[in-house]
Amino acid sequence: MYSPRPRVRHPLPVLSEPTPEEAKRSRLFSPLRLRSGLELCERSWIPAMVPWRASPEGEVTQEVLAWYERFALAQPGAIVIEATGIRDVPSGPLLRIGDERFVSGLAELVAVVRRASEGRTRLFVQLIDFLRVRRRPARDKYFERFFEPNERHRARLAELRGDERWLGAGDAELRAALAEATEAELDQVLEPRELESLRFGDRERVTDGFDPGIRDLPKTLPSLFADAAERARRAGFDGVELHYAHAYTMASFLSATNTRTDGYGTTLEGRLRLPLEVLAEVRARVGAAYTVGARMLCDEIIEGGSGVDDARHFGVELARAGVDFLSLSTGGKFDDAKQPKVGEAVYPYTGRSGFECMPPALSDERGPYARNVPKQAQVRAAIRGAGLDTPVVVAGGIGDFALAEGILERGEGDLVGAARQSLADPDWWRKLREGRAHEVRRCVYSNYCEGLDQKHRAVTCQLWDRERLDEPGAQLGDGGRRRLVAPR
Ligand SMILES: Cc1cc2nc3c(=O)[nH]c(=O)nc-3n(C[C@H](O)[C@H](O)[C@H](O)COP(=O)(O)O)c2cc1C
Ligand code: SF4
Repeated sequence: MYSPRPRVRHPLPVLSEPTPEEAKRSRLFSPLRLRSGLELCERSWIPAMVPWRASPEGEVTQEVLAWYERFALAQPGAIVIEATGIRDVPSGPLLRIGDERFVSGLAELVAVVRRASEGRTRLFVQLIDFLRVRRRPARDKYFERFFEPNERHRARLAELRGDERWLGAGDAELRAALAEATEAELDQVLEPRELESLRFGDRERVTDGFDPGIRDLPKTLPSLFADAAERARRAGFDGVELHYAHAYTMASFLSATNTRTDGYGTTLEGRLRLPLEVLAEVRARVGAAYTVGARMLCDEIIEGGSGVDDARHFGVELARAGVDFLSLSTGGKFDDAKQPKVGEAVYPYTGRSGFECMPPALSDERGPYARNVPKQAQVRAAIRGAGLDTPVVVAGGIGDFALAEGILERGEGDLVGAARQSLADPDWWRKLREGRAHEVRRCVYSNYCEGLDQKHRAVTCQLWDRERLDEPGAQLGDGGRRRLVAPR
């Protein structure tokens, strides 16, 4: 992951220990009603986290059930199920909702969460679309299989080497020569996009107008999202969260890097057009009484990307268009990701934008704790300034009662998202409510969990995954070396 210079290691905030009475009187543990009519019993929120536990076909497994059951036992206000694919295409062990056959497994997941939370926790599913990302190829494989030689390559190589013979070189000869060329030579001969495919792996973009599938996204995505939302409703979820954040298709439409010229890019209105059309089609399908929220970025944190001013505009327009909640995140883009190893895929949380998305304890002077809440608060203020009361979920380095309560008190957010703290100790919300804050297993913001996610391995927490491995019934992974569910 990106590492700021100079680096400063930040201790955890001093633990705040509310009494049960203080917790009861707090904003954090007070209810909130959404415009859809759905009531959340409190403002504690577990944002989406992919744990890599679905079956290779994208179905709910026993491991998925156990993972969410564990969170539900503490009865938070809401849990958002991990990014779940809306298409019926193979995507490894990531949950999918792109076909009817996924509904029964998802319904079982809803039932497990209802039972474990005694009906208190509201359950949403995050609906995602993503474009194709290929693994970084070996150099010889790239030139053999993916590279398409043309006259420009021949001309550049001929000029570079001062040898006109290259102008008439056959494809095979050119491929072989480039496979052996120096990096500096490749820099001059290949197009930027070809260099990226070679060094990072080919990655589709919403601006690839030459590809009919990409060109037609504005035609295909609204109904794909609406179909998925309808399945979510039938599975029994309380609502859906449209994934408009991070490195994925819808966030790429919103991005300032979206230069599409077909009315779905370039200007603020153009970039927002498809997200609004998707929302409208979803809403038309599920009706006003079903909760439809969206997650978007308060800042992309990339060069030439959208900043907080764009986010303020998008937030207001999405609120005006009737989202029931707006969940805010930060960064998490491919654009500044680190080069992957050969055979691995680029991971969007390795650059500075990833650092801002899941801020670690090893940080800059500002530190990780609620570091992006000031920007998120600006988005909320813009929404309120427009006379709209859409609740805003804030997140990023929030893992302490006073920190959470302060955010709510100052009106910087309406719901408090805590992903890693809930992973470190799924019981922490309950412990706060019961005046047992001193028992909370506190997240140290090491990002060990994020490292597992990066390797597409089952996500666990370093604070508990080696504990009590011999406990009867403990679900284990990695050949028995790691437990998959936090001990109770
Ligand atoms: C292992 C892991 C998986 C994540 N998966 C998702 C995801 O599927 N969708 C999403 O919007 N955010 C995802 N996130 C980001 C979190 O929802 C959250 O925004 C981020 O971790 C910052 O909050 P925190 O400081 O409370 O952890 C993931 C985070 C982690 C650690
Ligand atoms: S591994 Fe555990 S302690 Fe480290 S960041 Fe993740 S949840 Fe927090």
